[in-house]
Amino acid sequence: MILVIGGAGYIGSHLVKELIKKETVVVLDNLSTGHRVAVDQKAIFVEGNLGNEDDLKSVFSKYPIKAVMHFAANSLVGESVINPLKYYENNVGDTLTLLKVMLRHNVKNFIFSSTAATYGIPNVDIISESTVTNPINPYGRSKLMIEQILADYAKAYDLNYVVLRYFNAAGAFQTGEIGESHNPETHLIPIVLQHLAGQREKVSVFGSDYETPDGSCIRDYIHVMDLANAHILALESLLEGRNKTATYNLGNGLGYSVKEVIETCEQVTGVKANVEIAERREGDPGKLVASSAKIFEELGWNTERDLTEIIQSAWNWHQNQKY
Ligand code: UFG
Repeated sequence: MILVIGGAGYIGSHLVKELIKKETVVVLDNLSTGHRVAVDQKAIFVEGNLGNEDDLKSVFSKYPIKAVMHFAANSLVGESVINPLKYYENNVGDTLTLLKVMLRHNVKNFIFSSTAATYGIPNVDIISESTVTNPINPYGRSKLMIEQILADYAKAYDLNYVVLRYFNAAGAFQTGEIGESHNPETHLIPIVLQHLAGQREKVSVFGSDYETPDGSCIRDYIHVMDLANAHILALESLLEGRNKTATYNLGNGLGYSVKEVIETCEQVTGVKANVEIAERREGDPGKLVASSAKIFEELGWNTERDLTEIIQSAWNWHQNQKY
């Protein structure tokens, strides 16, 4: 059995859809930002907190868990600057509680959701796992702290782990059953699609004076189901003993500017956007593009969906959004 913490959230719920084909899945989620209906019906659902030892103990005593995948975190950069306490308590403190209870129950396989925000403002064009980490906000620091703690725990307590550093997750499950739903929404693609569906007056481009060809920020957008597949491969590598500790970037290796994303959304939907140029958003690096060569070479992962397919699946979800 695999325990998926945060399995009712955006990325976790997509992973569960894929994992349930191979494994029995237990989802633990406190539903603070996740959606109960997003959890596949074949999964066992437990409402509870990863920072609550009693909630964890009851899950680990009841079910024979062989690995934990940990998606539950606060993940808004801006909020983390205003309220760092929340980020250190929830992302660091609660994860420490989880690791303690896991180890006590002799569960030693762990997959951790990390982020491109651990790199800060990179000094290279394409980011590899050996690029120096230098996060510029509490969110990125909270994730890097856990990465460092994992390395110590692996040595001292024989913990096996894979850290996955996501770039920009987007898109939705192929059937349109589940997709991205945040409140408030801050991510570019859903915001543009909400505007093109008539639910927002305009789209703001945050900054047009970056050192990029069109002046807007460049990001590496990765389909949420490609991310899900990477988690399955990472899990198999731990369970089969091929990996003891590993850190991988997950991106497409292609950068698109904010303006290019808006244009692609226009092409997919056939609707013209009302675009305004706005101030830079604090804490946004100009360009974040991943090299995912390492996971390609070591685990055979590859991305199967490009930006157009990402936006098509998101649009499909958005037009018939269930939650
Ligand atoms: N953007 C706009 N207008 C909007 C919304 C976003 O121009 O209305 C821009 C942002 O400035 C950024 C790009 O679109 O340049 C993408 O922004 P998102 O908010 O969609 O995603 P981020 O790149 O900010 O965030 C992602 C992850 C975070 C992670 C961060 C690392 O979602 O978890 O990358 O920098 F921390």
